[in-house]
Amino acid sequence: MIYPVMLAGGTGSRLWPLSRQLNPKQFLKLTDPKWSMLQSTVARLNGLPVQPPLIICNEEHRFIAAEQMRQAGFQGAHIILEPCGRNTAPAIALAALQLQKARQQGEEDPVMLVLAADHLIQNVPAFQRCVQQANTLALAGKLVTFGITPTHPETGYGYICQGEAINEHGHRVEAFAEKPGMDTAKAYLKSGNYLWNSGMFMFRAGRYLEELGKHRPDILAACEAAMENLRQDFDFTRVDEARFAECANESVDYAVMEKTDEAAVVALDAGWSDIGSWSALWDVSPKDAQGNSTSGDVMTLDTNNTLVRAESRLLATLGVDDLVIIETKDAVLVAHKDKVQDVKKLVAQLQADG
Ligand code: GDD
Ligand code: MG
Repeated sequence: MIYPVMLAGGTGSRLWPLSRQLNPKQFLKLTDPKWSMLQSTVARLNGLPVQPPLIICNEEHRFIAAEQMRQAGFQGAHIILEPCGRNTAPAIALAALQLQKARQQGEEDPVMLVLAADHLIQNVPAFQRCVQQANTLALAGKLVTFGITPTHPETGYGYICQGEAINEHGHRVEAFAEKPGMDTAKAYLKSGNYLWNSGMFMFRAGRYLEELGKHRPDILAACEAAMENLRQDFDFTRVDEARFAECANESVDYAVMEKTDEAAVVALDAGWSDIGSWSALWDVSPKDAQGNSTSGDVMTLDTNNTLVRAESRLLATLGVDDLVIIETKDAVLVAHKDKVQDVKKLVAQLQADG
């Protein structure tokens, strides 16, 4: 049995003004008119030998997360609530500790499938085959990553250097480099030896905790302390606020994946995409003959390669190219498609200005 763990604590600030602090991108219907990114992530597992999902998110999103699980008919989902965000290494540790706690006597160390709650995967059967391949390696004690063939020198991703083959589908990870600089990313792309880290992982809970303890004992200790004082309330588990606040803020990529010798990679070719920015959403969206992707009450004339979303009124464009235009009730974003990575700077400025 596989235990899916959904990481749903991100802020998604580059997708402002649709993604907001109280309703971040994993809870939005961005790529599917019916389902949010989180709901699609759970639905994608349908047919695999999985337990109900364990969702880990911020306290302030508990009702959205629970309601979305209920609405989509996902029975038995359990939600761990973080009093504050400490990034993915601690989030995964809390989930691993919780799974170990819930383990019945005589049961094996559970295999966790850790998934980001905000990815698009177009070929679900190919994804599921890959999960089965990764499961074999995870059962054997490996920390498995899912590698994507890179298409450009992206600096927002982790890079995996493939080593020798372990079996038909998996390779050892020779080196893992999280978010390299542009020159390094270009060199990795050129070498042809590197894959992007998709941000999904598969390992036994106990193996993750061992490796975390080896490389970041401080994070393990803080998470163990936070789990000593749990509060259960229906489907929610709350960890100790003060102890968790003391935990270092670090992603699994830096804390464990860059350091461990036990990592493996399986190649994933399933139309994976991290909807990290508005231009990434434009890339994967259906478009008209002019390359425009529109949703809502939108009129375009002499407009090309533009993403337009209207939430609450008619939005018309004329004589513009390569833009992102996002209209919501209380804020409108107009940005050049090449500048959308900086939307998070806008959000930071807005927050600073109060
Ligand atoms: N519960 C919880 N708590 N979830 C979190 C937290 C947290 O504090 N921080 C982030 N997450 C969730 C996000 O919602 C997302 O689903 C996932 O964890 C990954 O976090 P991101 O912040 O989006 O990471 P990233 O995109 O910078 O980098 C990761 O993903 C890339 C691929 O998309 C890394 O794993 C990279 O190596 C990878 O290439
Ligand atoms: Mg991301």
